[in-house]
Amino acid sequence: MESWVLFLLCIACCTAFPAWIQTDTDKNNEAFAKEYLGKFYKSKDDGKMSRSGFLEKIRRMQDVLGLEVTARMDEKTIEAMKQPRCGVPNIGRFSAFPRNPVWKKKDLTYRILNYTSHMTRDEVDRAIEKAFKVWSDVVPLTFTRIYDRVSDIEMSFASGDHKDAFPFDGPSGILAHTFAPGDNTGGDVHFDADETWTSGSAGTNLFLVAAHELGHSLGLDHSNDPNALMYPTYHYTNPNTFQLSEDDIKGIHSLYGPKEKPVTPTKAQTHCPEHISFDAVTTVRGDIIFFENRSFWRKTAGKSEIEQHEISSFWPSLPADIDAAYENQKKDQVLLFKGTKYWVLRGYTVQEGFPKNIYELGFPLTVTQIDAAVHDDETGRTYFFINDRYWSYNEETSQMDKESPQRISKGFPGVGNKVEAAFRSNGMLYLFSGNQQYEFSTTNRKVTRLLKYTSWLNC
Ligand SMILES: *[C@@H]1O[C@H](CO)[C@@H](O)[C@H](O)[C@H]1NC(C)=O
Ligand SMILES: *[C@@H]1O[C@H](CO)[C@@H](O)[C@H](O)[C@H]1NC(C)=O
Ligand SMILES: [Zn+2]
Repeated sequence: MESWVLFLLCIACCTAFPAWIQTDTDKNNEAFAKEYLGKFYKSKDDGKMSRSGFLEKIRRMQDVLGLEVTARMDEKTIEAMKQPRCGVPNIGRFSAFPRNPVWKKKDLTYRILNYTSHMTRDEVDRAIEKAFKVWSDVVPLTFTRIYDRVSDIEMSFASGDHKDAFPFDGPSGILAHTFAPGDNTGGDVHFDADETWTSGSAGTNLFLVAAHELGHSLGLDHSNDPNALMYPTYHYTNPNTFQLSEDDIKGIHSLYGPKEKPVTPTKAQTHCPEHISFDAVTTVRGDIIFFENRSFWRKTAGKSEIEQHEISSFWPSLPADIDAAYENQKKDQVLLFKGTKYWVLRGYTVQEGFPKNIYELGFPLTVTQIDAAVHDDETGRTYFFINDRYWSYNEETSQMDKESPQRISKGFPGVGNKVEAAFRSNGMLYLFSGNQQYEFSTTNRKVTRLLKYTSWLNC
């Protein structure tokens, strides 16, 4: 095993902390400390750990954990040893491993080989995706999930001996281990399947551990800053408000440099392209995406500038000329349609098993193309526009409403009899037809404003 092997060790929280005065306890503590220090503060002379070697390790451990450096087995030190913590062998005060193994390429792939029974697959997928995003937000690396071949960063849940010479230890104790960047097992993350993995605050939060482990996967060592993600101790913080510390960011920038500015954003456009005609429009987690032919414009949440990208550069597996698209925020899904096929994205990631057939949604075989689609959170309905009709799909029951299809002029009076693209924002529908854009209120069932076709593109 030539990769650096990293253990994320979580020592069980001792609820009944033994009284410090007892000699037996002292002995137990010393034996425990020796084992602990031998495992996580390795040095060459570990075979016969001398008194001075032992004290030196305590000193290093205190330094690494940001404790007062006394080189003594004081109460704080023992308590720290027994606290849930990550036990990557601590090498020194460096934020990156010695010899700094890093990935030599910018575009990395990952694969989730299997799952934990404590969370749904969906929850695991999201936790992992979010953990990657922590890092891809700050360095010029991309992480693409793949399914059908070996990836750079392979992630799995395994229990006990799982054939890598570093067996897990059942509940608590070691939570996960990770191999530093490299070929084969390099970068791989193993989670201890015997932990109670969760997406909340109970048990062990998968996102937090995954984000920490991915730091190792990219080449980071531990930090002695207690606010850092790379601090050895596991402690829960709310994933929704989670942020990397300055120390984490400094560390990862030292390996990969800061994230460059977005590659092809066009500045606030001064004039719009002529004869613009959207194939499909959808929101994606707060962004708005306008598809036209082989490219799309993206209006990023909270930003005024518009970017233009090729569809193929974002999604190599997707075709050009998307027909229709909609977001279901509740399911955190974006569906993209072309002909009789559809794909599901989660965020910007195409999900496994797609494309599927639109007939699975309940369309009759006479339907071979969808003009536009939009989901209404309030009614839980998705409206599909096809020629001069619209179909109403119940997302709860996954069925077409019985009265479908109906005339567009009946359900959407004032909009005309064809809708080519549609999306929903702030409770209103925006429907594109010909060279018009209609703002439509589903509550009042009427057109509330007539907008310039390109009103969203700042031009
Ligand atoms: C998951 O996959 C890994 C790697 O193939 C394997 O070692 C492990 O036993 C699997 N875990 C489960 C719970 O099947
Ligand atoms: C998009 O495709 C249509 C139909 O092929 C074409 O008329 C139009 O000029 C194209 N638009 C752009 C911006 O390429
Ligand atoms: Zn660690």
